[in-house]
Amino acid sequence: MNGEELLTTLDKGKKEIHSSSTIENLEELRIKWLGRSGIINKNLETIKNIPADQKKEFGQKVNSVKKEIETLLDTKKNELLQANESEKKIDITLPGTPYPQGSLHIVTYAIEEISHIFERIGFIRMTYPEVEWEFFSFDSLNMPPQHPARDDFETFFIDFPAHKEYGKMVLSPHTSSGQNREMKRLGDPPVRMINIAKCYRPNWDTTHTPMFHQFEGVCIDRDINITQLKGTIDYFAKEFFGKDRETRLRPYHFQFTEPSFEVDITCDVCKGTGKVKKEKCKVCKSGWLELGGAGMMHPNVLRAGGIDPEKYTGWAFGIGVERVIMMKEGLKLDDLRIVYGGDIRFLEQF
Ligand code: PHE
Repeated sequence: MNGEELLTTLDKGKKEIHSSSTIENLEELRIKWLGRSGIINKNLETIKNIPADQKKEFGQKVNSVKKEIETLLDTKKNELLQANESEKKIDITLPGTPYPQGSLHIVTYAIEEISHIFERIGFIRMTYPEVEWEFFSFDSLNMPPQHPARDDFETFFIDFPAHKEYGKMVLSPHTSSGQNREMKRLGDPPVRMINIAKCYRPNWDTTHTPMFHQFEGVCIDRDINITQLKGTIDYFAKEFFGKDRETRLRPYHFQFTEPSFEVDITCDVCKGTGKVKKEKCKVCKSGWLELGGAGMMHPNVLRAGGIDPEKYTGWAFGIGVERVIMMKEGLKLDDLRIVYGGDIRFLEQF
C-alpha cells in the first residue's frame, strides 16, 4: 500500500467507525485496524520493501493514521457508552406503570342499581339496624313468641340482656324488621320505602351464606292494592333484568302479609316456556324462577306501626340481592360462598 492508498483506506475506516452503533461492532473494527494482523501492522511490515529514502516518510504516515484511528475508536466508544448509560436512566416523560386498582364489590354495585331503580319511582332508600330486637324482627310482624316461623328463620340470638318491651337481641334475619321502624319514623302514610340491608341466618352451605342481603319495598297509603304491588315488581324486573321479563304472584303464606305470595320471574334461558329445544329447561324446569316473597300488609302489622288499617292499606315485598345478581349475570356458582371469599380473581370479573 502506498501513501495514497493508505489515505483512501483511512477514509473508509473513519466512515466505518462513525456509523458503528454497538460496542461489539467497534471492537471488531479495532481488531481489523489495530489488531496483530490488522491493517496498520500489515502496512508496517511492508516497510522493508520500501526504498530507503522513503522509509521514514512512509513510517510516519502509517503512524499518524494509526493515531487517528485510535483516537476515533476511543471517541466513538465513549459516545456509545454514554448513550447506553442514558438509556438506563428514567425517562420522566413516559407514562407511569399503572397501579392495580380496586373496585366495588358486586353486591355493592347491585345495591346501587336497585336503589336507583326505586328512587326513580319515588321510593326512599333506608337501612335499619342489623343488630335488632325480637319485637321488630318478629312480634311487630304478627309472629307470636311460639310461632314456628321463628324457628324457620333460624335466627342468631345475641347474648345480651333482653329489652323490657322489645325482647331478646338478634341479628336481623330479614329486611322486614324495618317495616315497623319506618311506619313509626313517618308517623303517617304515605310510606314508600326501599330498605336494603344485610340479613343473618345461621346457614352455611353451597347456596347459603350466614350473611346475605335483601331489598324490601313497602308502600302504605289510602287505596293501596295488589295491582300496584304487581306493577312495581314488574317495573323492577324489567329495569333490572330487561324489558322481555314477566313476573307472577303465586299464593303462599307469610305471617305478616295477607294475602301472601311468592314472586316468580320468567326464566331468561327458556324465555318462560320451560323448554329448550323440546327438552325441559335445566335452569328453571318450569319457565319460572323464584324471586322472593310479597303480600298485602297484615292489619296487625299496620296497627303495630301505629297506622289504622281501616283507613290505610299497604303492601311489602322482600327479595334477595345475591339471588338477583346470580340471575342477572347468568352465574351458576357451584358455591355461593365464593361471593364473600374475597378472591380477587372472582371479584375482578365484575
Ligand atoms: N321477609 C320475607 C323473607 O325473608 C320476605 C317477605 C317480605 C315476604 C315482605 C312478604 C313481604 O322471606
